[in-house]
Amino acid sequence: MKHLLLMVFTVVLVSQLSYSQNKIWNETEEQKTERMAWWTDARFGMFIHWGLYAQAARHEWVKKNERISDEAYQKYFEMFNPDLFDAKEWAKKAKAAGMKYAVITTKHHEGFNMFKSAYTGYNIMNTPYGKDIIKEWVDAFRAEGLRIGFYYSLIDWHHPEYTIDRVHPQSVNTKEQYDALNKDRDMGIYREYLKNQVREILTNYGKIDVLWLDFSFPGEFGKGKDDWGSVELMKMVRQLQPEILVNDRADLKDYEGGWDFTTPEQFKVQKWPEENGVKIPWETCQTFSGSWGYYRDEHTWKDNKQLLVLLIESVSKGGNVLLNVGPTARGTFDYRADRALNEMGKWMKYNSRSIYGCTEAPKDFIVPDNTLLTYNPKTKRMYIHLLDYPMTNFLLRSYGDKVRYAQFLHDGSEIKIGKPQGHWIQQETIENDINLILPIIKPNVEIPVIELFLN
Ligand code: GLC
Repeated sequence: MKHLLLMVFTVVLVSQLSYSQNKIWNETEEQKTERMAWWTDARFGMFIHWGLYAQAARHEWVKKNERISDEAYQKYFEMFNPDLFDAKEWAKKAKAAGMKYAVITTKHHEGFNMFKSAYTGYNIMNTPYGKDIIKEWVDAFRAEGLRIGFYYSLIDWHHPEYTIDRVHPQSVNTKEQYDALNKDRDMGIYREYLKNQVREILTNYGKIDVLWLDFSFPGEFGKGKDDWGSVELMKMVRQLQPEILVNDRADLKDYEGGWDFTTPEQFKVQKWPEENGVKIPWETCQTFSGSWGYYRDEHTWKDNKQLLVLLIESVSKGGNVLLNVGPTARGTFDYRADRALNEMGKWMKYNSRSIYGCTEAPKDFIVPDNTLLTYNPKTKRMYIHLLDYPMTNFLLRSYGDKVRYAQFLHDGSEIKIGKPQGHWIQQETIENDINLILPIIKPNVEIPVIELFLN
């Protein structure tokens, strides 16, 4: 037993020590909270996956999935010309949907740059479109008051020095095969290229609010922080843009300052994610359908209620949602994406107060059946989201001493706090319960919200 305790103690000590040695920059917890405050309040952002793969229209991984060679993929570069692209229109749509920030792919795994780069000819300026899409996009989104984020793929399926690995379109099976394929490739040169490009995007477009690096896959025939040069890269990022927020995919989990938030992908968490028992900032990234890039024949689109529940539930667990649009090769949003954004915007117009600035409800509030709670700690208001509309009596167990006033959020109409109607429920009611008298007809809102003013 003694032995075991000593061992545990040593392991904890060593890991603490190595953590504090693994320092990318100096910042107190309070400073970090402050730096992240806009993002924590925002809760809802737009992800945009756009690149040459929009033309194939069958997943942004098409090059890998179909093992397409550089030569065969070249036609997409030679043809890319999104003639209907209107960044202002996109920005307006994001804003109308209730989104507060947006993150766009400056480069995805295919290796193509949507921005003007001095380090490769494989960029937007050399396509028929010939204009810096990222520049147009940044200007338009900023003008709408949205915060700006860049996705940049660590992975690169086009760079000639990038070594072939298990997620590469030319992946093979054995070590011998990899060695043979990679004998003339020098990852060091790619590492430099990667750093130069990240410097470019963090220098040429003014203040950038989010950097979304994607992604590490350490292990056999994989890549991690040493392959990317992540430590050096992150130091540069922090130096260039001290206020930027960075996701957690550069394989720097053990480094202080190596990441700011975690990124459950296409996954609804059971509870607020933690690390060493401490709740950490998180953002789930999600698609409307199964694909990030435009996928013409993909039909598994989530409906409005699913999307709203995703957003509300994430906030109820202290997290953000980054919801993806994959624009078409012409530069427009697919009609299904438009519809989804519209419907969410309709709800957000009247109910966003239960989203912005909100978080998990204090634990002493009992969650009524079929509802999700969010809470605004600044205004001290509680939001009850009615996922399944109840009947007249809506009992709140042991809320009695906590509630001052109740109303529907969408129209500000009072909800009376009153004695339960019907003698059966009176038998069930106990001290400190309160009863809300709801209209029997569900308001004309996909998910009605009750706003409680707390004492
Ligand atoms: C993944 C995929 C990718 C997508 C990303 C978004 O890691 O490789 O295509 O960009 O997740 O989270």
